[in-house]
Amino acid sequence: MKKTVIGVIGAGAVGRVHIDNIMTAIPQAHLKYVSDAYPEKYNAWASDLGYPLATTDHTTMLKDPEVEAVVICAPAALHGDLIIEAAEHGKHIFCEKPFDYDLDKIVKAMAAVEKAGVKLQIGFNRRFDKNFAKARTLVDSGEIGDVHVIKITSRDPIPPAIEYFTAPGGEHCSIYTDTTIHDFDMARFLNNSEVVEVFAYGSKLINKDNPIITRADTIAVTLKFADNSLCVIDNSWQAVYGYDQRAEVFGTQGTATVENDVFTQTTLHSAKGIIGEKPLVTIKDRYGAAYAEEVRQFIFSVQQDTPVKATGLDGLLAMVIAKAAVKSADEGRIVKISEIMPEGV
Ligand SMILES: NC(=O)c1ccc[n+]([C@@H]2O[C@H](COP(=O)([O-])OP(=O)(O)OC[C@H]3O[C@@H](n4cnc5c(N)ncnc54)[C@H](O)[C@@H]3O)[C@@H](O)[C@H]2O)c1
Repeated sequence: MKKTVIGVIGAGAVGRVHIDNIMTAIPQAHLKYVSDAYPEKYNAWASDLGYPLATTDHTTMLKDPEVEAVVICAPAALHGDLIIEAAEHGKHIFCEKPFDYDLDKIVKAMAAVEKAGVKLQIGFNRRFDKNFAKARTLVDSGEIGDVHVIKITSRDPIPPAIEYFTAPGGEHCSIYTDTTIHDFDMARFLNNSEVVEVFAYGSKLINKDNPIITRADTIAVTLKFADNSLCVIDNSWQAVYGYDQRAEVFGTQGTATVENDVFTQTTLHSAKGIIGEKPLVTIKDRYGAAYAEEVRQFIFSVQQDTPVKATGLDGLLAMVIAKAAVKSADEGRIVKISEIMPEGV
């Protein structure tokens, strides 16, 4: 079997998920390099497992002709620059979401990728989740009919740590651009029409007594598509019962519902009632298989020269919707996508 030689840039929480998958579940890839600005924590974990150790230098992997692809899991504010650098070295690129916070940088990175003729896949892992992928299949097969309303509920089990806001680049982070970005992509993934207008409310409810955190942690967003179909998203950073990930696609012929995954399907029937399991809790519990599948399919695209399933354009459009939502919540009005979309796209 041909192995694609790869390097990972950024070995924090999600970088370690991808590294673990590459080492244990993706035999089509060979991990040759890892880099991280602060490699000590990763190296302590990796040396126990016998995984490649990280250095602070990512240019060696970019200059190595044996390396065909890189997986970028550094903080989002660095993504655009790292994509441009990797493309200029002729490497195929898998980059975690969001593409970048800066729309001009995103457009430059897309141009660099096109000029280099390399592949770019953005880490919208939920497209590779079996439940959401099945809903997309039902839309494609016509079994839902014309899509009229999409509803997405997306609630994290616990809010991000304070470092999320205070670390370098943290000033760019928001629930819209970092969390709901998945749901903006999911709304597009589940419909055959593009978003044209956005209205958003954002509230600070979980962190209301924390003066350091000034940003919204609970939001409700309505999207209008070009064919006048609609999407409603509610998003929270704290659901005490687990990672609440549900969706519904309602159309002229029926409805597809995506329910929460649970650890077991077993229910207790007793005098107290019928008691089922809570939803899964961590991102690895809920999306472990999807994280492996998205990188597996990226490697397949590299090896077989087939299109990737979450493109740079998908990454750009999700960020444009996120910026429209931020503007809508700030200004209390409907924001048109055309107000935000960079010229020439
Ligand atoms: N798809 C998903 O479900 C998902 C889940 C979590 C995070 N993410 C995304 O992944 C990215 C990383 O998030 P995280 O939670 O792993 O953050 P993290 O802070 O845990 O990890 C980031 C790592 O990057 C390193 N780093 C910083 N600057 C670097 C540089 N110049 N070169 C190399 N490494 C550098 C840091 O030292 C850290 O180890 C973010 O864009 C985030 O939104 C996606």
